Amino acid sequence: MSILEQIKKELPWLDDNLSFDLTRGKPSADQLKVTENIMASLALPFEMDGIDLRNYGIPEGIPSARQLGSEILSTPFELTLALDNSSLTIMQQVVSCALHLGFANIKLSKKSKFICPVPGYDRHFKLLENFGIEMMTVNFSADGPNLNEIKTLLEDDAVSGIVCVPRHSNPTGHTYSDSNISNMFEMFAKKKNNFMILWDNAYACHDLKITPEQQPIMSVAKNLNLENNLFIVGSTSKITLAGAGLAFFSSSECNIEKFIDYRNSITPGPNKINQALHVNYFKKVSLDAQMQALRELILPKFNLTEKYLTELHEMGLCDYIPPTGGYFISFESRKPNAEEIISECANLGLKLLPLGSCFPYMQDPKKNNIRIAPTFPNLEGLDKCLQIFSSVVKKLN
Ligand SMILES: Cc1ncc(COP(=O)(O)O)c(C=O)c1O
Repeated sequence: MSILEQIKKELPWLDDNLSFDLTRGKPSADQLKVTENIMASLALPFEMDGIDLRNYGIPEGIPSARQLGSEILSTPFELTLALDNSSLTIMQQVVSCALHLGFANIKLSKKSKFICPVPGYDRHFKLLENFGIEMMTVNFSADGPNLNEIKTLLEDDAVSGIVCVPRHSNPTGHTYSDSNISNMFEMFAKKKNNFMILWDNAYACHDLKITPEQQPIMSVAKNLNLENNLFIVGSTSKITLAGAGLAFFSSSECNIEKFIDYRNSITPGPNKINQALHVNYFKKVSLDAQMQALRELILPKFNLTEKYLTELHEMGLCDYIPPTGGYFISFESRKPNAEEIISECANLGLKLLPLGSCFPYMQDPKKNNIRIAPTFPNLEGLDKCLQIFSSVVKKLN
């Protein structure tokens, strides 16, 4: 009997029409409903901070929304911009600006190389690849990217940047320790005349369990004269509405000036009505209360996923680090068979990202990594996904 037939026998509820998807870190409908319920009661704002929200202009974002961004990212208000939805778009624009115009302490070229801690976020890698920037990988230590590996890569003059997700990293869940960050930044300081630190704090306030506090990153940079090298982004995509949130950007004064000037050729101004809507939203519900409401929906899904993975781990079939927050769990099969697992799951109606997705150029050196994104299905659906996944791993390993 084939593996497929065996599993179909074990899981009698399986049928050919079922379709599950654990590919993307999307909020569930329940999560989005939390925001919708409150947002629906708000009138569409047309004026805030003395600004006519209906019109063009205010490229830095309205002050009240910049204040919200500075709270989320722990960055100074005057150095924080509030923009449109998607921090990924900002990152793309920052890299593009660094390539075409350059910032004070970083001018990228097609010969530039970036350090990428792996496993990492697939869209970061695609973004850099699209610009022709070569990616050099480093592994993770327990408390952040491996510093020895970074040190070695920094010896290459062409290495001019790094992309980091410092809290609840996608997909491993790593939260960098203060000492890891300080040591890493000390190394970057030696290359500060041409170096870009892309600091993607997408999960800045997405703790599910107790997570170490982190020092404000701008202060670390300031102490080492790295303010011109640090480019921080974040958003409310995983706080309010994934497709209609606000994204934020923070860097030094001269970088911000340059970036606004660059963006003035892209847009006559951000969507200030959505900015004010978000400000009014957080007058009704505090950021902490919002994150608590989301945590109540997300944590049971992480706990359920961990229950299955713990069993697989105890059977000696996989490794994973239990995350303390964020949106993902990084599964590592004990065998180099991620592709087979992914393919068998697909045959049973469960979609997972293809092999290598969490690595630059889709190259997973151990061929064993699979990113699990448990937030999107409801609990019952997730349980079915995990039954399929776990049965496949047990059969193949
Ligand atoms: C690390 C990381 N950065 C950025 C994003 C996308 O954020 P945004 O919606 O603000 O573009 C994601 C989404 O999964 C992510 O995991």
